[in-house]
Amino acid sequence: MSESRKSPLHKEIHRRRTFGIISHPDAGKTTLTEKLLLFGGSIRTAGAVKSNKVTKSVTSDFMDIERQRGISVATSVMSFEYQGQLINILDTPGHKDFAEDTYRTLTAVDSVILVIDSVKGVEEQTERLMQVCRMRNIPVIIFVNKLDREGRNPFELMDELEDKLAIGVRPLTWPINMGQQFRGVYNLHERNIYLFQPGKNVVENDRLLIDDLDDPRLDKELPSDAAQLREDVALIEGIYDKLNVDEYRAGNLAPVFFGSALNNFGVRELLETFVTIAPPPAPRETDSRSVEPHEDKFSGFVFKIHANLDPRHRDRIAFLRVCSGMFQKDKFFRHVRNGKEIRFSRPYNFMAESKRIVEYAFPGDVVGLFDKGDLKIGDTLTEGEEFMFQGIPSFAPEMFKELVSTDPMKSKQLDKGIRQLAEEGLAQLFIQEQGRRKIIGTVGELQFEVIQYRLTHEYHALCRFQPLAYSKACWITSDDPQAIKAFTRYRDRQIAYDKDENPVYLAESKWMLQSMIKDNPEIQFHFTSAFKTENRIGDSVA
Ligand code: G4P
Repeated sequence: MSESRKSPLHKEIHRRRTFGIISHPDAGKTTLTEKLLLFGGSIRTAGAVKSNKVTKSVTSDFMDIERQRGISVATSVMSFEYQGQLINILDTPGHKDFAEDTYRTLTAVDSVILVIDSVKGVEEQTERLMQVCRMRNIPVIIFVNKLDREGRNPFELMDELEDKLAIGVRPLTWPINMGQQFRGVYNLHERNIYLFQPGKNVVENDRLLIDDLDDPRLDKELPSDAAQLREDVALIEGIYDKLNVDEYRAGNLAPVFFGSALNNFGVRELLETFVTIAPPPAPRETDSRSVEPHEDKFSGFVFKIHANLDPRHRDRIAFLRVCSGMFQKDKFFRHVRNGKEIRFSRPYNFMAESKRIVEYAFPGDVVGLFDKGDLKIGDTLTEGEEFMFQGIPSFAPEMFKELVSTDPMKSKQLDKGIRQLAEEGLAQLFIQEQGRRKIIGTVGELQFEVIQYRLTHEYHALCRFQPLAYSKACWITSDDPQAIKAFTRYRDRQIAYDKDENPVYLAESKWMLQSMIKDNPEIQFHFTSAFKTENRIGDSVA
């Protein structure tokens, strides 16, 4: 079908690019996001975007967390237009204690830009995030940042990316020197260079374009680097094949860009390639079938819930990714989990500096919905069909504490509060002894502090946390119902139930878990709550 004969829905879908921007903290995610928005004309000044990251300091500051919560709603999704495309950037918290939030956001994107610090190379959080991308075959573009610092040799960095991230790599730009001598990037794709002028922000016109490596102006402008550049380019062209876009879209090959986000160098090259190769909204799996974006009927799922900033109002904002058809304001949709019809009179979309009410939204878009407690992470909305989108699992937490009420008069509030915070995805709640014992599982210490602060301030429920010796939780299933019954009966101190009443085994140590797996072949242990789609874990205990 020719472009002009395609339906309006098809055109809208085709021009959308929804991606997540991820990095280890401090690699430059916020700075790069801001530069992308500047190119899109969405913001006018540098410094307009504040990061979604929680305090950098080791000791967390509650007020800072509160302040950050406000900021992160505004910057959770940022949309802008560039060369006719509508680009939705989904921000992710860099702090490792909120990694689960990031993993869930990755279920709502069609591709990812991964930012790496050229001085530090691949860091711990980068590896974990990439594992999630690889699990889901998300197409990844890598931006190696901070070339204006004395970083690692770019050839070594390419090897490190390939080894540690377990993905093929293909440079599309190449740095000319680095640190104080950084002169810019050679565009291997377009075969040209814009020369670097430190300190200049988005001043495109001031740059000198050289589009032939043999041009004598190159030797004049870069007397000490021209020869090295020619040598590097010859070497790269010898080592790497041409970029295979299908391999990129299949999640097997990552195009790599070099630059300095702070100095706005290499960002334009990244953005221009992104709009040509990044995939439009992809089909999404449900428990009954795959849903194509261009289907007539609307469907979408909630991947994030954010508490309202105002503690007097408990309403929350649910972030919904539109997967098919058209979302419409005031139209009734089916809330599949509870079978109710639900409509939204104030759905929001997010432009960088503002949020505004939208009449409709298309696949790839993210809509903010005011919610009074009806929606949970993972909920599906449709135009009537009964299916649930897959792949928004909870990950096994690694830190566990018992939540103890210190004011018996307020235990109801505490109960309600912790359930709502768990629905927001801030932590996982496990129940023992028919509800008498509440165990909170998180991936980091900071989450406990946030929970305690919010329970006290929003629900007026005084509480404390009692450390527990568990270090791993695994969901358990078995093909034999008797086996599960027997297993849970004999180990009741180690068994708790998640929010959907699935049994969970709490292990004191990795060793204990391994021997439990070995001794109980009839029980399957799972690291995420997505039992149906996940591989069984056998001996590879993380
Ligand atoms: P993040 O969101 O990934 O955590 O990183 P962010 O953009 O906040 O950047 C972390 C620090 O790195 C910031 O410095 C930022 O200015 C700096 N940075 C980002 N890109 C570059 C670059 O290309 N070159 C250099 N040299 N630095 C870069 P900061 O001092 O921590 O914060 P700020 O006071 O500058 O905001």
